[in-house]
Amino acid sequence: MRRTRIIEALLLDNVGKQVRLCGWVRTRRDSKAGFSFIELNDGSTIKNVQVLVESSLPNYESEVLKTGIGSSVEIIGTIVSSPAKGQLSEVKAESIKVLGFADPAVYPLQKKGTSFEFLRTMAHLRPRTNTFGAIARVRNEICRSIHEFFQSRGFIYVQTPIITASDCEGAGQMFRVTTLDLANVPRLNGGTEVDFEQDFFGRPTNLTVSGQLEAEIYALALSNVYTFGPTFRAENSNTSRHLAEFWMVEPEMAFCDLEGNMDLAEEFLKTIFSQVLSNCHVDMTFFNERIDNTVLETLKGIIDSQFVRLSYTEAVDILKRSGESFEFPVSWGVDLQSEHERYLTEKTFKKPVILTDYPSDIKAFYMRLSDDGRTVSAMDVLVPKIGEIIGGSQREERLEVLETRMKAQGLNPEDYWWYLDLRRFGTVPHAGFGLGLERTIQFVTGMGNIRDVIPFPRAPKSAEF
Ligand code: 4AD
Ligand code: MG
Repeated sequence: MRRTRIIEALLLDNVGKQVRLCGWVRTRRDSKAGFSFIELNDGSTIKNVQVLVESSLPNYESEVLKTGIGSSVEIIGTIVSSPAKGQLSEVKAESIKVLGFADPAVYPLQKKGTSFEFLRTMAHLRPRTNTFGAIARVRNEICRSIHEFFQSRGFIYVQTPIITASDCEGAGQMFRVTTLDLANVPRLNGGTEVDFEQDFFGRPTNLTVSGQLEAEIYALALSNVYTFGPTFRAENSNTSRHLAEFWMVEPEMAFCDLEGNMDLAEEFLKTIFSQVLSNCHVDMTFFNERIDNTVLETLKGIIDSQFVRLSYTEAVDILKRSGESFEFPVSWGVDLQSEHERYLTEKTFKKPVILTDYPSDIKAFYMRLSDDGRTVSAMDVLVPKIGEIIGGSQREERLEVLETRMKAQGLNPEDYWWYLDLRRFGTVPHAGFGLGLERTIQFVTGMGNIRDVIPFPRAPKSAEF
């Protein structure tokens, strides 16, 4: 008999049907009248199905009365409409088979609310809780709608490498990839240098910090492309918004300038948010009730509103005039901190803000230099509570300007010969951005810590599971 998912069993039009349900027990209540109620969950929805188990079943005493939270069972029964409040249907069991007991004396997830900190040490069991099940389903919906957004607009999905020899965002935060024996590293020049010729790739390599440079190659052949994959940064920021391994979506568009890039970013975020609201209604109601009672209102507000667009220079003026005492003082030329980003989106505008035209010195080498000679066509999208959720730019398409900027940032143009070739042969204006998947899920769900919206977080001193 085919297994029926609990989400289907809860539909009233299935009343009268015989079903086979499998799942994990959330609670069992026994009545003196000679039956028990089992609340069963299989992860297909946050809702449990209530199963009525009568004591006349042959294994009632020997097995049913020993099941508790965490036990796995298979039930054959009939869907009946329920007299109980708050549910439309329940299942009357005709047989129940225990697949695996979970000893309640040692099972780590007890019925009472357990802290997120504790659950982080239980990443192998936390998806069985309401919150982490809901996060997994919302994360899945966001990934699905990201692909749908780009696919429906003709963007080609390109897989960029995870191991690379180039740096996209500026050195100092990359994970080295090597097969050299760390206890016995081969050296050159009397020991002052590592002999990377002997390493696996014959040169230093690292885990990618962004798929952008390779995505540009494909954009300059296929026009509109996107990458979507894991990226790695060894920044030692132990914050609630940084991971060492996170997922990034990076569209790249040829024949596009900064304005087209901003338009795409705004439409993209609104589309994802509205898809989550329509397709994850039950889970989103849970987040609104239990995690952050503003998420539904915020997302709906964003879908119907226009993002604010303003320059870095204007933003710095607003911040200086704000009278707020920031931990990091603001002046033209400094990189904005998350306290500044949050001030602009939470206090000044109360909605998403796209900041553009940052000083060239604080942005990556590939961003297009503006006519003023001191700013670049950069854009950061800021949202309340999170700060920066998207970083992007129009790319420098002029060969000489790009070479000059590379040298100014201490990069050797020879290492990027292929990137420069794209400007040498049929260069075109192009632009793109990167959206942090986990920050997006944090924003949508209201979860306070980024480590709780990725199944297996990687952060400083933490790589269990
Ligand atoms: O602003 P970033 O560094 O931009 C890039 O990497 C560009 N190459 C993207 C592009 O233009 N194709 O990163 C993009 C986004 C950030 O806005 C943020 O949402 C997320 O990636 N992000 C992180 N998320 C979690 N943990 C970290 N350590 C992150 N660093 C960046
Ligand atoms: Mg950035």
